[in-house]
Amino acid sequence: MNDFEQLYASVGDDLSQVPWAGLTSHPRLVEWLDAHAPARAGRPALVIACGLGDDAEELARRGYAVTAFDYAPTAISWCHKRFTSSTVGYQVADLFALPDEWKQRFDLVVEINTIQSIALEQRPNAIGAIASTVAEGGELYVYCLHRDDAVPVENRPWPVSRADLAAFGENGLRELSLDELVGLSGKPVLQGVYTR
Ligand SMILES: C[S@@+](CC[C@H](N)C(=O)[O-])C[C@H]1O[C@@H](n2cnc3c(N)ncnc32)[C@H](O)[C@@H]1O
Repeated sequence: MNDFEQLYASVGDDLSQVPWAGLTSHPRLVEWLDAHAPARAGRPALVIACGLGDDAEELARRGYAVTAFDYAPTAISWCHKRFTSSTVGYQVADLFALPDEWKQRFDLVVEINTIQSIALEQRPNAIGAIASTVAEGGELYVYCLHRDDAVPVENRPWPVSRADLAAFGENGLRELSLDELVGLSGKPVLQGVYTR
């Protein structure tokens, strides 16, 4: 059992104990969608490591045909229980073994706080896997804790540097924007948008 599954399983019905779960769609994603994302009714969207499902539901409300995955079965089971009439296709899947048919399939891909959960040595592969899902002309939204390039990472979550995110460029994506913001917890974050 992976660490995340252990945590989701350990909280029982008290989802407020899941440290990263706001139990609502992420406010920065909502702002970005309101300001930038083109209305693409019925177009395919993917939520990477969707946790308890709130961001996937946000995209579904906006008319996208949403697929969302996480490798923690308890998280996916909560998505089904919380959103009983959802149109989202929730599934248990590992970022490091994504289905072949997801390659360059999605017009919008949303990644929030997963890269920082993945150890540095696996990060290039994680970024490659995320990048591989973005369709030609599609967009990837990335939100993560930020560290300066020269700062060593110590404890999980391991914040993400601009140098880490440069790997999107090595995987066929082009940076449209990369902004330093203050996160909801007051910590520095990076918000990036990429296209293929
Ligand atoms: C910090 S949580 C963020 C969850 C969600 N994106 C959010 O913002 O609430 C990180 C998530 O990544 C998932 N995860 C970590 N490694 C994964 C992997 N290799 N494949 C799929 N999911 C993974 C965990 O189960 C967890 O739900």
